[in-house]
Amino acid sequence: MYARANGGAAEDEEADEGGLSAPRVLIVGLGGGGRFGLGQIRRAAAVAAQAAAKLKGVKTMATIVHGAGIAGHDADAAAQEVALGTLLASYQPRQYGRKKEDAGLTSCTVVEYSAAKLQDVERGVARGEAIGRAVCSARDLVNEPANLLTPLEMAARARAMASDVGLKCTVLDEAAMQEEGMGILLAVSQGSTNPAQFVILEHAPEGDEEAPLIFVGKGITFDTGGISLKRTGGMWAMKDDMGGAGAVIGAMEAIGRLGVPRRVIGIAPCVENMPDGEAFRPGDIVTGMTGKTAEIISTDAEGRLILADALAYVARFDPVAVVDLATLTGAIGTALGMHIRAGVFSNDSSLEEKLMAAADHCGEGLWPFPMDAEYEKPIKSDMAEVKNSAGRSGVSSSAKFIEHFTEGYPWAHLDIANMVLADSRINAETPKGATGYGVRLLVELAERYAAAS
Ligand code: BES
Ligand code: MN
Ligand code: ZN
Repeated sequence: MYARANGGAAEDEEADEGGLSAPRVLIVGLGGGGRFGLGQIRRAAAVAAQAAAKLKGVKTMATIVHGAGIAGHDADAAAQEVALGTLLASYQPRQYGRKKEDAGLTSCTVVEYSAAKLQDVERGVARGEAIGRAVCSARDLVNEPANLLTPLEMAARARAMASDVGLKCTVLDEAAMQEEGMGILLAVSQGSTNPAQFVILEHAPEGDEEAPLIFVGKGITFDTGGISLKRTGGMWAMKDDMGGAGAVIGAMEAIGRLGVPRRVIGIAPCVENMPDGEAFRPGDIVTGMTGKTAEIISTDAEGRLILADALAYVARFDPVAVVDLATLTGAIGTALGMHIRAGVFSNDSSLEEKLMAAADHCGEGLWPFPMDAEYEKPIKSDMAEVKNSAGRSGVSSSAKFIEHFTEGYPWAHLDIANMVLADSRINAETPKGATGYGVRLLVELAERYAAAS
């Protein structure tokens, strides 16, 4: 699926706009009243692409840029949403040997009659395309079953993406992680025959010596719960437990393609959580990179454990800010519902504000949760620095656990467990299965940091 700008035959505003050689015309209602925002532009484009793809034999379509006329949006911003909505709606999940249905649209042309606007439209389309493709990459990673997408395979795909896009990619194997002292992360990996991989992606535009913005994504390729085994029903969905890492890898792809003028580092600790004779157990006490210890109450509270060492690791970069994304708790869905907003937990109000503003702008919702010291109480351990589970004491205690391992930088944690995998299609731009949540948000945040520096 590619979108491109096309000046058509017309050279200026006075040109004849009357001719239409298209065999079919698709009319999409844009809704009435209220402000026609970027979200509506994206949705209108997505609805159109979906409708066109359902028509037998239709492979190509053309569209104008909605929203750049009377709605008054900048042509590039509106064109970006048109391309993005078109690509998000046209996503096709891999079929694994099943006969492929008619594959839908293969191209979309964005028509702009005004020569004066054409460059802006082209820039917007290219941006929407870079972001849309990256969201689809994240969807591919999350949809992939865990027998195929092991930590080694995730690292291989991250490496391939990095060389494609021009990012630096370093992968630590278990020996290197041992060397770094990541005993908390490695405890989670103990029960799996698939070795853990610690992926580090770096986008370093020339001349930017500034402190980097860092994204860290939970990359549990499958979460059985370990010895604290999950129940059977719905366990298959735990292939999505690397959704945070998928979002980070996807965002780095877009950031590299867009050449965002800001140093950004993406970290994806990839680990499988399995029960086994060698698996870690409830009651174990493990020591991480910083020398801090954790008492394991539940081996199913494993996400915060791998994040503990990943967040300790990033302190060496002296980051301007660190944002982690994790499918951390089922409870976040109880609190916020499914596929509306993810939870944000932060100890830095300025970073939290930036995240909220980026979320509102790009349409990937967030909602803030408290971080009062009192949420610390249920994770006090008699024997270690902290324990990894507090039972039913609310979502904030999970974030409080992670906070122990975040020293020396502003930090925010996004619990995205209610966002990454959909039971059924959510809207024209968000299909059943992996949503790719987080990619757009992280790209928007990186661009805001770039603009401010
Ligand atoms: N990966 C799960 C959280 C999850 C649940 C993600 C549902 C997506 C959908 C996480 O590792 C987990 O098991 N969390 C436990 C935490 C508890 C043991 C403190 C949970 O939410 O039950
Ligand atoms: Mn778990
Ligand atoms: Zn998990």
